Amino acid sequence: MIDLKKIPASKEDLDRYEVENYFHSWSYQPDQPPPRVVSAKGVRFTTEDGRERLDFSSCFVSHNIGHQDERVVDAICDQARTLTSFAPSMSTTPRALLAKMIAEVTPGDLERSFISLGGTEANEAAIKICHQYTGRRKIITRYRTYHGGTTAPMSLSAGDARSWAQVQGGAEIVKVPQPYCYRCAFGLEYPACEIRCVRYIDEVIELEGGSEQVGGIIFEPITGANGIIVPPPEYFPMLREICDRWDVMMIADEVMTGFGRTGAWFAMDHWDVVPEIMTLAKGMTCGYMPLGVTVVRKHIGDRFKDQFFSHGATYAGHALCCAAAAALIPIYQSDKLVERSAELGKYLLERARELKDKHPCVGDVRGMGLFVGIELVRNKKTKEPLTTVDSKIRKVVDPKMEIAKKLGELGMIAMAANPVNVIALAPPLIITKEEIDEGIAIMDEALAVGDAFAEK
Ligand SMILES: Cc1ncc(COP(=O)(O)O)c(C=O)c1O
Repeated sequence: MIDLKKIPASKEDLDRYEVENYFHSWSYQPDQPPPRVVSAKGVRFTTEDGRERLDFSSCFVSHNIGHQDERVVDAICDQARTLTSFAPSMSTTPRALLAKMIAEVTPGDLERSFISLGGTEANEAAIKICHQYTGRRKIITRYRTYHGGTTAPMSLSAGDARSWAQVQGGAEIVKVPQPYCYRCAFGLEYPACEIRCVRYIDEVIELEGGSEQVGGIIFEPITGANGIIVPPPEYFPMLREICDRWDVMMIADEVMTGFGRTGAWFAMDHWDVVPEIMTLAKGMTCGYMPLGVTVVRKHIGDRFKDQFFSHGATYAGHALCCAAAAALIPIYQSDKLVERSAELGKYLLERARELKDKHPCVGDVRGMGLFVGIELVRNKKTKEPLTTVDSKIRKVVDPKMEIAKKLGELGMIAMAANPVNVIALAPPLIITKEEIDEGIAIMDEALAVGDAFAEK
């Protein structure tokens, strides 16, 4: 064994460790390391070659407040010097404060939280709470969705090709289509469709055994990695009514959409619908520390006063992570980041829509807040996708990733490594109009690469 305090660390050594010793997420293991990031500030980051680049993905939609905000860094350092963590059977100040803060910012009577280390864990806990509360095994999920990387959330990630590459398990899962108006599963058009997709869920619940068998339905309020799918305004109020009728829990996975991303504190606020369970992560700590939350409504929380709560983790409510979130969440309020996302989101959408007119490979542009998707097609009329659903897990030339490569050369990252034919633009909420213009100009240039694959 080499001296662990003196591991060789030249550029070439580090590159080799990346290639030989590290598992890269959701990919074939590369024979070249990705560029090494050495620093970041605001909406920009710098790689080892000294190049400054624009972050139009907020690092998988997490860095909402931008990189290296001193207020959060100071709070983390202060807490680290006081108490980094303690066994979850004891209380800490940041954990208690954060639990109250989450109850304050989330809608309705969502008020009791389990605090974990990320979005996947938040959804794991949500499924377990749903099973324990209802005593029912079945969970409905929607195709074209991602709920996390461990077994149960991955099994619920229906239609995401990454889920095909593993053995599934966990809940008994029933799959239904998305409210995906651009490619309506029922071949209908809004509003004449009368929201067939949500009425179909009503039928599915009935056929799957109604309130005797179906415990909950999990959904991303605006689907993220699988295509920035924005539902029609009637969708969630109607789903609420259906779930109430069948006594089925609504589980809103706001891991990506929470904390201002869509121009409201939480996407469900757009429709004034309160789910039974909400899961949060990403924007809650903006990547400064890892954290996930599963927050439930009062009556569900109260049930576990008399029923054993069968879930936990060594790092549940980790003090350092909670301190980061407790310092960060008030920044959304003081810096008016939610309002900013709503306002600048309109501008981003407007500018991105210009790209649709200019580029044969852009079939649709949609979004809410600073969460905008550009759907890529080979043919605008037939809507044939530029990238097939399985291309994420196959070793193929993927035109979307060629666009992403070009974006990289031009000095920008967007959310392109999604499992579908959509590139998402999700910059930090602190972005300015000028920086949006800069990003759109780069996107414009990169889309020419996609045009070469499209029919004119
Ligand atoms: C909607 C949604 N849910 C859950 C997750 C999983 O979160 P994490 O990667 O923090 O485990 C993600 C991650 O991208 C997500 O987008």
